[in-house]
Amino acid sequence: MAADARFFGLGGRASGPRLRDGTYRLWNTDPGGAFGPGDDPLYVTMPVQLVVADAGTHLVFHDTTWDGTVLLREGEEGAGSGHDRPGHCELRMDGGPLRCWVMVGAPSRVLHTWAALTGAPALPPSWALGHHHARWGFGSEQEVRRIVAGYQERDLPLDAVHLDIDHYDDHQVFTVDRERFPKLPVLAEELRRDGVRLVSIVDPAVKAAAGNAVYDGGAAVDAFVRDASGRPVRGVGWAGEAVYPDFTDPRVRAWWGGLYEERLAEGFAGFWHGMNEPVSFNAFGEPTLPRSARHALEGRGGDHREAHNVYGLCMAKAGYEGLRELAPEERPFLFSRSGWAGMQRYGGTWSGDVATGWPGLRASLSLVLGLGLCGVPYSGPDIGGFDGSPSPELYLRWFQLGAYLPLFRTHAGLRAGRREPWEFGPEVLEHARAALLERRRLLPYFVTLAHLARRTGAPYVRPAWWGAPEDRALRDCEDAFLLGDGLLVAPVLEPGADRRTVRLPRGRWYDTATERAYEGPAQVVVAASPARIPVFARAGAVLPVRGAEGPELEVWAPAPGRTGGGLVVPDAGDGLAEPELERYVARRQGRTVVVTRETEDGSSPPAWPVRVRGLG
Ligand code: NOJ
Repeated sequence: MAADARFFGLGGRASGPRLRDGTYRLWNTDPGGAFGPGDDPLYVTMPVQLVVADAGTHLVFHDTTWDGTVLLREGEEGAGSGHDRPGHCELRMDGGPLRCWVMVGAPSRVLHTWAALTGAPALPPSWALGHHHARWGFGSEQEVRRIVAGYQERDLPLDAVHLDIDHYDDHQVFTVDRERFPKLPVLAEELRRDGVRLVSIVDPAVKAAAGNAVYDGGAAVDAFVRDASGRPVRGVGWAGEAVYPDFTDPRVRAWWGGLYEERLAEGFAGFWHGMNEPVSFNAFGEPTLPRSARHALEGRGGDHREAHNVYGLCMAKAGYEGLRELAPEERPFLFSRSGWAGMQRYGGTWSGDVATGWPGLRASLSLVLGLGLCGVPYSGPDIGGFDGSPSPELYLRWFQLGAYLPLFRTHAGLRAGRREPWEFGPEVLEHARAALLERRRLLPYFVTLAHLARRTGAPYVRPAWWGAPEDRALRDCEDAFLLGDGLLVAPVLEPGADRRTVRLPRGRWYDTATERAYEGPAQVVVAASPARIPVFARAGAVLPVRGAEGPELEVWAPAPGRTGGGLVVPDAGDGLAEPELERYVARRQGRTVVVTRETEDGSSPPAWPVRVRGLG
């Protein structure tokens, strides 16, 4: 590798986004408890590596699902002495054959090619681009109603509530505890009328007990993973002794996909796949299935060494395809803790059990950026962290970051403290409300970014170097990101900050709070009081937003003598329609900005009202 090369990707890594010297294992792993930046590997590993250097950007895909490691060593430049030490990358796999794919070009082109090879990202329904509130341990319908009412009473936007394993009967997947959730479909219907969808967790482990309908049904179709002697492999899940569907078998996927009918009948609109590395709580050894366990591997046959890394991917395929059949008019909403290259075809992912603490906040951003560069554009963290209780300041900063990430979800574990925005005092509530309202205002922009991800493979959340990989300082910038082409978000990742430095890519950037213009490339210091995290708009950007009267275009004045523009894809609801892309151009004429819509037939006035900003 070139001496100046920087490495990114390899799935979701907590220590990135820049992957420093070290050995990165390719084996999907539940760290077992909340994780921090030192924990590696995690739930989604991928032999997909993005390398950025002066000479160019490339993505390399080491196309085998076996366990393996990638050893990375960054190079060093000899400061003009001609004695550069090259960078180094070494791959070791436990099995093969190994086929390598390499894609070169600008980052946008590389990701476009990657999506062409492994599939276009699924388009989430629009509501999934709003705010979600989850918790392990709501425990009852009353508590769910209390939380939703808490949002409503305080005028806080809420689009989805997630029910975790505690709503199951005895922790058994595809069941409901009727004592604590007696009228789930009624609850779902009432929430939906208020614009709130219900999302259900779905874990793969099936309680191995006769009388459990999923177990009986699966056994009848020979769905569960067997060992070399032909006996079903028994592991341990939340419900005790468990068996595991073999999702690498198309027959088993078809059976499993049909089980979502029960979830749809309960009123669920979305699905959250957990524990699918897969996890078995073992007293010793790895917390997964034995390596000797047999898998169909699409009829070819093999063992868990080869199937492990694609277990979550194949489960996502089962769920997605089942939902497409069961509810053909709607786009499925599904996100999965584990996965592999290509998982974006079925949905997104999330950070998993990120540890509460400032390092966990930083790891959250690292995961979203790294996954995006591996072609998985939709993800986000457990806001506030999975365990313990964040300080009000940490919670707020996490919330403010989350408002600009594709999956904007508060979640926490069974024994963790509260995560509702009103539980941290009036100041946090006020600022969290501002973040929620800004997210709602930006919803049309998120819808556009979702469509663009589907059409071009570009993630919504991109590293600062995305448009300028030749800018070496940007390659090392790990604390800010681009949201689409138009915005640069600089979250606060440290305690006690009331300002922060931000490295701006080339061109003019406006601080969206003050409309002050800065010229990049530059490093600037801006205010970052608890009320806000710094967000910059690129001069010339055309952003679809939700105005007081309906959708409008927010246009940031191009610098004098320059033009700008933007792409907009209107929201066509939650069906399968593929709305037409709108292309806008913004021209600066003295103190005026003229915005036109460009089509093959020429220019026309924009379809939406226009609000120009940045002219002072
Ligand atoms: C582990 C998941 O990562 C977490 O999000 C969930 O709350 C628990 N399992 C319980 O389902």
